Amino acid sequence: MTTNNVLHNKVAVITGGASGMGRAIAQAFVAAGAKVIVGDVNESGLSSLQQELGASALAARCDVTLEEDVINLIALGEEKFDRIDIGINCAGASVPKPILEIDAEEWDDTLALNLKGLFLALKHEARAMKSHGEGGVIINMTSVTASLAATGLSHYSSAKAGANQLVKVAANEFRDLGIRVIGLAPGLVRTPLAQMIWDADLVDAYNTYVPSGRAGEADEVAAMAVFLASPSASFINGSIIFADGGHASNGGWTDIAGIGDYYREL
Ligand SMILES: NC(=O)c1ccc[n+]([C@@H]2O[C@H](COP(=O)([O-])OP(=O)(O)OC[C@H]3O[C@@H](n4cnc5c(N)ncnc54)[C@H](O)[C@@H]3O)[C@@H](O)[C@H]2O)c1
Repeated sequence: MTTNNVLHNKVAVITGGASGMGRAIAQAFVAAGAKVIVGDVNESGLSSLQQELGASALAARCDVTLEEDVINLIALGEEKFDRIDIGINCAGASVPKPILEIDAEEWDDTLALNLKGLFLALKHEARAMKSHGEGGVIINMTSVTASLAATGLSHYSSAKAGANQLVKVAANEFRDLGIRVIGLAPGLVRTPLAQMIWDADLVDAYNTYVPSGRAGEADEVAAMAVFLASPSASFINGSIIFADGGHASNGGWTDIAGIGDYYREL
């Protein structure tokens, strides 16, 4: 974990920060000198993170699909830490299902969480940065699935592809605000969200397929987020950066032995 002070005195809002990669990012950011405002719907995760990170963190309930919640989270953060310099938009989830079985409500819920929720967070983080006039950086968690034919994840991967597009548009709209906007696209990373792959005994098949020969760990993605938010990444803007062990490089999904069948059979 990063322990130097590359984010000294920076204030970051992190959605979906009670678990998985968002939580690892909150921990890594505090270790790198930042203060963090963590919003999530997982209240037990929020309270254990608050205990762990103490005065460097403010953990509060926030459902990113509700604009009022997002506005309140950012206002709480500004009240406690004065300003917002960094947005990390991690809230997301997927429930695999074939297209033929996804009903309209499930489609809407998946898009609301993974695309609209990301839009709302990005919008209000940018407004907070505009208010102090010193710019900032917004990192949006997308996914390797946005770039592949991710069978079983049509709703989720469509939302993530929309998030990639939003990154490009926002980077251009925010050029005069000095706000960098980046997409961080993980491959398979061991978190509660991805546990289904381990539960279904599919990880060995995945490991033989990806160039790095393994799934990722949340700490590896957190280290990437620290770098992208830091001054060392000052010329990275409007890009989708993969942290996927090479998965996107071979373009496969249904070719992963078993995994395509697994999703098709759900
Ligand atoms: N784990 C992977 O393999 C993987 C791969 C690619 C992309 N991702 C993306 O990375 C991000 C983090 O996922 P993770 O793997 O750490 O999963 P995770 O389940 O550990 O964390 C996701 C967090 O989002 C929160 N959340 C869900 N709905 C919310 C809502 N309406 N408002 C606020 N918070 C909400 C959850 O409570 C949880 O704490 C997600 O956007 C996910 O789509 C994950």
